[in-house]
Amino acid sequence: MFDSIEIAGLIWAEAIVLALFEDKQPPSGGGDDAKLFALPAVKQALSRKECTGEADNLVETFVALDGGTVRIHLLGLGERAKFTPETMRKAAARLGRRLAKAKDENVALAFAGTLRDAGADVEHCGRCVGESLGLLAWNGRLYQGAGSKPKPKLPLRLRADDAELARGLGAGLKLAASANLARDLSQTPPNVATPAWMADQARKLAAETGLDCTVIAGHDLVEKRLEGLLNVGRASDHPPCLIRLAYRPEGVDGNARPVVLLGKTITYDTGGLTLKVNNGMVGMKRDKDGGCAVLGAMHAVATLLKPPFPVVGLLVAAENSVSDSSMRPDDVITYRNGVTVEVTNTDAEGRLVLADGLCWACDEEKASHVVDLATLTGGVVTALGSTFAGLFATDEPFAARLEAAAERSGERLWRLPLHAEYREMMKSPVADIINSNPNRKAHPIQGAAFLSYFVPEGTPWAHIDIAGVHAVDADTGPFVKGPTGFGVRLLADLISGMQE
Ligand code: BES
Ligand code: MN
Ligand code: ZN
Repeated sequence: MFDSIEIAGLIWAEAIVLALFEDKQPPSGGGDDAKLFALPAVKQALSRKECTGEADNLVETFVALDGGTVRIHLLGLGERAKFTPETMRKAAARLGRRLAKAKDENVALAFAGTLRDAGADVEHCGRCVGESLGLLAWNGRLYQGAGSKPKPKLPLRLRADDAELARGLGAGLKLAASANLARDLSQTPPNVATPAWMADQARKLAAETGLDCTVIAGHDLVEKRLEGLLNVGRASDHPPCLIRLAYRPEGVDGNARPVVLLGKTITYDTGGLTLKVNNGMVGMKRDKDGGCAVLGAMHAVATLLKPPFPVVGLLVAAENSVSDSSMRPDDVITYRNGVTVEVTNTDAEGRLVLADGLCWACDEEKASHVVDLATLTGGVVTALGSTFAGLFATDEPFAARLEAAAERSGERLWRLPLHAEYREMMKSPVADIINSNPNRKAHPIQGAAFLSYFVPEGTPWAHIDIAGVHAVDADTGPFVKGPTGFGVRLLADLISGMQE
């Protein structure tokens, strides 16, 4: 939608954005925004019936300022008493689409006073605006070739005279850039985005940001006994790997334990021998989106957040393919923590690779906290749709931190239960546990119950099933049809929140 977005000290803006609530009260005080509200053209526009101030309302008028004609956008924010950051995000997405259509390139945002009058956190609102505009700028046509004409895009330069609004705006644009990185990876087709390609992307990120990157592949996987990756990845010509990105602040105590972010990174999920049927395979290039979100979050950690404690990102990368050497239903896998798994369904492959990641996080990294993100089950889509991701957690304080991060980032979580009975459901007659119970009950919870066998007691752990929220099937808010980068902003807020 935009060629680029930057914050600039514009001398002349061709468009100015004012905001109003349904009560249409002008901002208090004698600031620039109050003066703009007093201009006759603005007053007239405000008094028109179409200008309602409702949360989906956007009205324009033109004024002559400094010898030029300036477009004034009057952005509705709904009822003053009901205003939330969510309202700001949605309004900004609407505004962004209009700015692109109107070809406004130099835009001043003059609504800090209006927000402050409503008691809003102006910096956080700025961040919401930055996020929405930044997310809108993303374009999914990574492979637009000679056969179609590219749409012309204009750069967008933003001015915010209010320091708090400007600070938030800057942070929001950076967070959107991290999320957009995740979206680019998600969008990359599976014939390109193999596990080795994902590892290359992680190396590139590390080189650009100063993170440390290690990739465990080939015989090292055998040596480290990463049996889930070896088995799930066995049928593919594109071999599996564990990708590790590490952030360590300078001067931190050598024994400091990291927060570990773990992402399911199945570069393509055919289902394996338990093959996906009835068109269920299409779109499974996005079965790597947990890992893409972790990579995006590590980008945010390195470029924006820079927390005072270490953070490790782990991507368990494999292609779940079909060949004569496929893992079979009935196979038994022995994990490095000693737990044995009877494979009942090769399409429940995500938990098999995540199990390696959890073992690794706990015994190699000595994680202080672990959170995994995964497009794990169709069942979570049935249960929660695209409105919430499913959250499973065993540690109350960690669950509370995640819920606070969800609230701040707008990436919604709904907690689902992890009762001991669900762990019982995963018992195997031949090994310790099965990877899927064919009884068709509580699939998202089965996944979480399975994973819990790989986290030793005492390590705060959470599992987030993003199968319903990692992509949207139509343009919504700041997103075009396609990947949302879900998890990047959530994890960024989790990491920020852990500093307190
Ligand atoms: N990657 C899928 C889950 C998925 C489904 C993600 C739809 C995104 C959209 C996962 O590996 C899978 O196949 N899950 C199975 C689990 C079942 C076999 C226990 C499912 O949900 O059907
Ligand atoms: Mn599967
Ligand atoms: Zn999968």
